Amino acid sequence: MDLAHTQEIFEQLYSGFSGYDVARQEKERLGLQEAATTYGEVVPPAFLEVVREATPKEGEVFFDLGSGTGKATFLAALAFPFGRVVGIELLPGLGDTARKVLSRYDAEVRPRLSPEHQNQRIEFIDGDFLQQDFSVADVVFAHGTCYGHELIEQLTHKLKELKPGARVIMAGHTLSSPELAFVKMKVMKTDWGSALAAVYQRR
Ligand SMILES: C[S@@+](CC[C@H](N)C(=O)[O-])C[C@H]1O[C@@H](n2cnc3c(N)ncnc32)[C@H](O)[C@@H]1O
Repeated sequence: MDLAHTQEIFEQLYSGFSGYDVARQEKERLGLQEAATTYGEVVPPAFLEVVREATPKEGEVFFDLGSGTGKATFLAALAFPFGRVVGIELLPGLGDTARKVLSRYDAEVRPRLSPEHQNQRIEFIDGDFLQQDFSVADVVFAHGTCYGHELIEQLTHKLKELKPGARVIMAGHTLSSPELAFVKMKVMKTDWGSALAAVYQRR
């Protein structure tokens, strides 16, 4: 789908939802202060340009690690021919918001799309991405500027589960692993500023 159409649908989907408000309320409710749960969102053109560097192919599976209200997950679904997109988020209130957006998507958007897009699976899982099975993913995205050193080390180790040829887009950190071949680095504009996004391929 082209950028203008993707953006129009995206704005319609998210009108009335504020991820920042939900994240603040959830952190208060759960008493969380960890930097890793600092909220921030992708913006369409910059995010889509970075995903394009990971060359998504028809039917592939996209994971967003720390998906918030699902903005990156929906953009990936709308703009690329993924067969399945999965958002994984630690704060349940953000996952609930993503599922409300999914209900809106299913009612108002999905029926108007091409058959290929109508058949996409879109899922939001509550929980720690370190506990998920990465072996099914083809393109993994993490907007993890606030992820600490320990979490990045655990994530780097976890990425060994990916199948050869899978791509990783890491925004906010670089990853160092013999299993990951560096592909490209891009500046990615976000709603809070900009982050360096590095693309890797699992060897
Ligand atoms: C900067 S936000 C990115 C939101 C969304 N991906 C986007 O780019 O629009 C990072 C998210 O990661 C979540 N997060 C942090 N650690 C996590 C973990 N171990 N498992 C799942 N989600 C996590 C935070 O709660 C936060 O919502």
